[in-house]
Amino acid sequence: MPGRDFVLNYFREKSGISSGERLFFSPGRVNLIGEHIDYNGGLVFPCAIDKGIYAAAAVNSSGKINLYSANFPLLKCSINNNYLEFDKNHGWMNYPKGVLKNIFELSGVKSGLDIAFHGNLPDGAGLSSSACIEMLTAVIADTLLELNIPMLELVKLCQKTENDYIGVNCGIMDQFAIGFGRKNSAILLNCATLDYSYAPFNIDGHSLIIINSNKRRELAESKYNERRAECESALGKLNKFMKAENLCSVNESDLELHKENLTKTEYHRALHVITENKRTTDAAEALKNNNLKLFGELMNSSHLSLKNNYEVTGHELDTLALTAQKMDFVLGSRMTGAGFGGCVIALIEGENFDRFKKEVGEIYQKECGLSADFYEVRISDGTGEI
Ligand code: GLA
Repeated sequence: MPGRDFVLNYFREKSGISSGERLFFSPGRVNLIGEHIDYNGGLVFPCAIDKGIYAAAAVNSSGKINLYSANFPLLKCSINNNYLEFDKNHGWMNYPKGVLKNIFELSGVKSGLDIAFHGNLPDGAGLSSSACIEMLTAVIADTLLELNIPMLELVKLCQKTENDYIGVNCGIMDQFAIGFGRKNSAILLNCATLDYSYAPFNIDGHSLIIINSNKRRELAESKYNERRAECESALGKLNKFMKAENLCSVNESDLELHKENLTKTEYHRALHVITENKRTTDAAEALKNNNLKLFGELMNSSHLSLKNNYEVTGHELDTLALTAQKMDFVLGSRMTGAGFGGCVIALIEGENFDRFKKEVGEIYQKECGLSADFYEVRISDGTGEI
């Protein structure tokens, strides 16, 4: 296997270790629907994909954490496992460092480790490369140090690392989807209770496509934290009149009733959140009933709400999704992930991938001056040893 053999050779070359290493894979994720509602106690519907990051890893007795990446070969990190503080000069390596710091603290077990990474997941593209490397590091440490930490605890530890160590106030969806991914299934996750179920993703005769806009988004620098604060502020104001645990538990008629007490922005953010939660329930039901037409329509309305009410799309994502939506063999299309650049997904009928790629690609290039990448998605298992 290319990813597997490559990372093994790379590990041996860089670390000088020639036996006893173990191999792991961690997927990226797409969210089918339920966007920007994980941190509002809503339902999300993501799945793990077959693009991700491979790693080879082994413990060492030097007490050093040695990290190598074939994707960023100029940066190498070799640091003492007692000093794993955030360092902005360490770039991507802060993700594994932060996870190791938290896992060592949680378990009280510490070791030196050599880890080499090699990924085929575009980074900063909204497919959750950060949660992917976090979960990968967590599973590596858990396996090599024989910690037996339950997957849900690893998921929470990675989310905490992203929140407190990296400084991005993300919800739990990405780490959860990557940790709990299952081949050919989407995960219907209730982010308030963490109850979840697997939904078979039966789309016979159709394909799910990812379109990478190649407009980079850096979650940490984006308006993500601002959107979260706007939702909290809307909930705080609504709770002067009701007792809602989170924004997703407010119903639309109550929102309309108390609209005057919110700023225009807060109202629109809340409107997105409440309607998106309903769309997610409806989409899961539509998938169960093999009603892909309705599933596609819900994808389209999700995009529209993210564009007009939540304002996280932008010219590039709108051009891609709205162009796709107009094609007669496309059932639905929407941005996926945090937005502000990144990726769009589309559900298309039949053998139309090449035509889709050509036509959407040309319009996008003309409108936005950028060249998009297209991939057919296969839904994969979550992070684990291979
Ligand atoms: C990012 C965050 C997730 C989620 C999505 C938007 O991917 O990491 O927690 O909020 O954005 O749905």
